[in-house]
Amino acid sequence: EGKLFTVLGIESSCDDTGAAILRSDGTILGESLASQHSIHQPWGGVVPSLAKSAHEDNIDNVIQTALSNANMKIEEVDAIGVTVGPGLEICLRVGCERAKDLALRYNKPFVGIHHLEAHILMARISPEKYNNTSIPSDKSMSRAMEFPFLALLVSGGHCQIMKAHGIGQYSIIGGTLDDSLGEAFDKTARLLGLPVGGGGGPAIEKLARTGDPTSIALPIPLQKRKDCDFSYAGLKTAVRLASEKLCIERDVESAEQLSENDKANIAASFQHTAFRHLEIRLNRAMVIVSKEDERISTLAVVGGVAANNELRSRLEKLCLDRNDPWKLCVPPPRLCTDQGAMSAWAAVERLLVGSSDSAEGQEVFARYP
Ligand code: KG4
Ligand code: ZN
Repeated sequence: EGKLFTVLGIESSCDDTGAAILRSDGTILGESLASQHSIHQPWGGVVPSLAKSAHEDNIDNVIQTALSNANMKIEEVDAIGVTVGPGLEICLRVGCERAKDLALRYNKPFVGIHHLEAHILMARISPEKYNNTSIPSDKSMSRAMEFPFLALLVSGGHCQIMKAHGIGQYSIIGGTLDDSLGEAFDKTARLLGLPVGGGGGPAIEKLARTGDPTSIALPIPLQKRKDCDFSYAGLKTAVRLASEKLCIERDVESAEQLSENDKANIAASFQHTAFRHLEIRLNRAMVIVSKEDERISTLAVVGGVAANNELRSRLEKLCLDRNDPWKLCVPPPRLCTDQGAMSAWAAVERLLVGSSDSAEGQEVFARYP
C-alpha cells in the first residue's frame, strides 16, 4: 500500500467547532472540540447567528490545539479536509473559509467534505486505531468493513437508510417524512424540561434507564406503510398528549413538574417506541438489500443517535438474531457525534481514491445533496 500521510480535518456545520489531525491509517494524532452547548441552552435550540460567532471565536484556537496535541505544525500536514455541507450555511462558511486560506497559503491539497458521508465513513476506521497514537504505524490501512454495506444515519439533522457502494456512491433506501430521530429525542427532552445542550438524547437515554418502557402505550409510526421510510412527528405529538394526560391525573401544571418516576416512564416509553419503529424499517431494508445483493451483510450505524447504548445493543441483537447474521459496525460514541476527526477521515478516504477539490472554487451548501 501507499505511503502514510496526515490530514487536518475541520468541522463547523452546526454547533460544534472541531478539528483533528489524522494519519491515513485512521490513527487520531490530535483533536480539539469546542462545543457551544451552554450558549444555545437558554434558547432551547441552536441559534444560527450565535453559532456563527462562536465558530469565529473558536476556530483558530481549535485548529491550533489539534495541531499541538499532535505535536505538529500546519506546514507538516499533507492535506486539509473541511465540511462544506449540508448544515447551517453561515456556520459552514467559517470552517470552509479558514480551510481554504490554509490550503492556499501552505499549498496543501484540499478536500470539501459532505457531512453525511463523513458520518458514514467513520464506521470504517478499524477499532484498534481510535486511541492508538503509537508511532511505528500500521501500513496495511485495514478497514473495519469494506464496501458495499448498509448504513443507518441517525442524527439531529438526518434520518436515512442508505446503501453504500463506494466513496461518493450512495443510494437512499429510506428517509424521514418529517422529523429526524435526533429531533424527536430533543423535543421529548424539552417537553420534560431536561437539559438539551448537545442535544436532548443523552438526557433521555439516562432517564429512560430507570423507567418502564411499557408503562405508556404509544403507537408505532407508519405501520401500514411497508417501505423503509421514517416518521417521528406523530410520535412526538403522542408523547405530548400522553404526558398532558398524566399531568391532569397527577394534578400538575406541566410535564416538568411530574415526578422523576413519571418522567422516566415517559422517556423510556418514547425511546422504546422510537427504536421499535427504527428496527422495523431497518429490518425491512436488510431483507430487501440482501435479496438485491448477497454480498451485503454489514450494517454501519452512525450519527449522534448512534451514541445511544440502548440502540447499540438492540441493533446488535437485530443483526445477530437473523438466519444469516449480519456484522454491526458502530463508531465509539464520541466519534458518532460531530467532531473534527470525521472531516479528516473522510478526506483520507477521498484522497486514497484520488479524489480532491480545488480550494479556490469551493462553496458551502445548506441542503442535501
Ligand atoms: O450527529 P450529530 O452530533 O449532529 C448532526 O449532524 O445532527 O447528532 C446530534 C443529535 C442530537 O439530536 C442529539 O440529541 C442526538 O444526536 N444524540 C443522541 C444521543 N447522543 C446524541 N440521541 C440519543 N441518545 C444519545 N445518547
Ligand atoms: Zn452530524
